[in-house]
Amino acid sequence: MALNNLRVFFFLAMVVCAAHAGKPAPKGKEEKADSAAAPSGAAGGGDSSDISKLGAKGDGKTDSSKALNDAWATACGKEGPQTLMIPKGDYLTGPLNFTGPCKGSVTIQLDGNLLGTTDLGQYKRNWIEINHVDNLVITGKGTLDGQGKQVWDSNKCAQKYDCKILPNSLVLDYVNNGTVSGITLLNAKFFHMNVFQCKGMMIKDVTITAPGDSPNTDGIHIGDSSKVTITGTTIGTGDDCISIGPGSTEINITGVTCGPGHGISVGSLGRYKDEKDVTDINVKDCTLKKTSNGVRIKSYEDAASKLTASKLHYENIAMEDVQNPVIIDMKYCPNKICTKNGASKVTIKDVTFKNITGTSATPEAVSLLCSDKLPCTGVTMDNIKVEYKGTNNKTMAVCQNAKGSATGCLKELACF
Ligand SMILES: *[C@@H]1O[C@H](CO)[C@@H](O)[C@H](O)[C@H]1NC(C)=O
Ligand SMILES: *[C@@H]1O[C@H](CO)[C@@H](O)[C@H](O)[C@H]1NC(C)=O
Ligand SMILES: *[C@@H]1O[C@H](CO)[C@@H](O)[C@H](O)[C@H]1NC(C)=O
Ligand SMILES: *[C@@H]1O[C@H](CO)[C@@H](O)[C@H](O)[C@H]1NC(C)=O
Ligand SMILES: *[C@@H]1O[C@H](CO)[C@@H](O)[C@H](O)[C@H]1NC(C)=O
Repeated sequence: MALNNLRVFFFLAMVVCAAHAGKPAPKGKEEKADSAAAPSGAAGGGDSSDISKLGAKGDGKTDSSKALNDAWATACGKEGPQTLMIPKGDYLTGPLNFTGPCKGSVTIQLDGNLLGTTDLGQYKRNWIEINHVDNLVITGKGTLDGQGKQVWDSNKCAQKYDCKILPNSLVLDYVNNGTVSGITLLNAKFFHMNVFQCKGMMIKDVTITAPGDSPNTDGIHIGDSSKVTITGTTIGTGDDCISIGPGSTEINITGVTCGPGHGISVGSLGRYKDEKDVTDINVKDCTLKKTSNGVRIKSYEDAASKLTASKLHYENIAMEDVQNPVIIDMKYCPNKICTKNGASKVTIKDVTFKNITGTSATPEAVSLLCSDKLPCTGVTMDNIKVEYKGTNNKTMAVCQNAKGSATGCLKELACF
């Protein structure tokens, strides 16, 4: 699983890089905003563009992409607060391209459900792409249904390194001060939400659901972003519930329930050149249920980048039957992707695990697998009480090259 995930990230990153390579800087784009905005003029008037008045049909069959893209152009092209209304109903769409900058601030009111077409030929990259938009709000009780079930079979990333990446559901690129609240993301073809180069994002009361065996259906991936808060959110998918990639700073995750899935992960770190540091990550008041990892930090053994992950704080985390409840893995090195030469260039320091309780599905409740050349430093273990449920073995910690202090932990879990 880790291997697949890895390969996928490699290609995803290439795709993202390619996608951004020819993109003008945000400033350049702003100057072109006026001519780029092309209001359709057909909106229902006022400050609201209602897709049902622009030709969308909520019958689950009629392609409503044009109505949605037109509604976006209208809402984005007007000054002041604007609403793009998606009323109750099931609207089938192909790729949606919501690009800014916008003249005012746009709220997407999602009361109905959007269904992403299963005709893969229609997608260039992702399903719903939101680009260069400030003060965006996406809210409502509706659902973004990626309809992945019908296409997961065509995900060959487990077998093929050079695989085609299926469309991510909701992609936020260069979105500042945005909010996503209340909505459900269901059965994405690939990642459910990808947050890239965003500053100031609130993701609140969101539900993300896909089967535990669906391939690469990460809940929320964050990369090169700062001040992102995820709160009151329930995620159960076939891959990481939340993954925090390079360049992420000031990320707060609270009140998240995760499972099934691969847990809440920082990483993978160090795979690509020029990765930026990860710092100020707070994960608090979260529950992990039957996941393969609980809280995980992973980096490549022979990292391409020299970078530091620091000030990672995990507090009040409840584990229910988690396979690797607490894990730092600096020896991540799936075959063929890296060499096991132990020359890590990733530094991991100032990590606090505080009040981590519950049950482990394997004897090794704590694994701190740090590199001999770059040990993990400043690791604080405070009140870690996670017990192996089985009767054939005892609870244990595996501690390699980690330095720090422990207080109030189960004695078999204290690495120091
Ligand atoms: C989205 O729209 C913007 C602006 O109209 C355009 O520059 C960009 O190429 C489009 N992206 C895709 C994936 O179609
Ligand atoms: C985002 O919000 C912060 C705090 O309110 C503000 O300082 C910043 O200018 C805003 N950024 C944008 C791009 O609107
Ligand atoms: C994240 O939480 C920390 C600690 O509670 C707080 O100091 C910080 O302001 C929060 N950051 C954001 C972006 O909300
Ligand atoms: C420890 O965390 C659990 C939730 O995982 C919480 O219910 C409990 O109150 C916390 N204990 C302390 C002392 O904060
Ligand atoms: C207990 O678990 C450890 C670590 O997984 C393993 O090495 C060992 O063989 C196990 N012992 C028994 C008796 O199963």
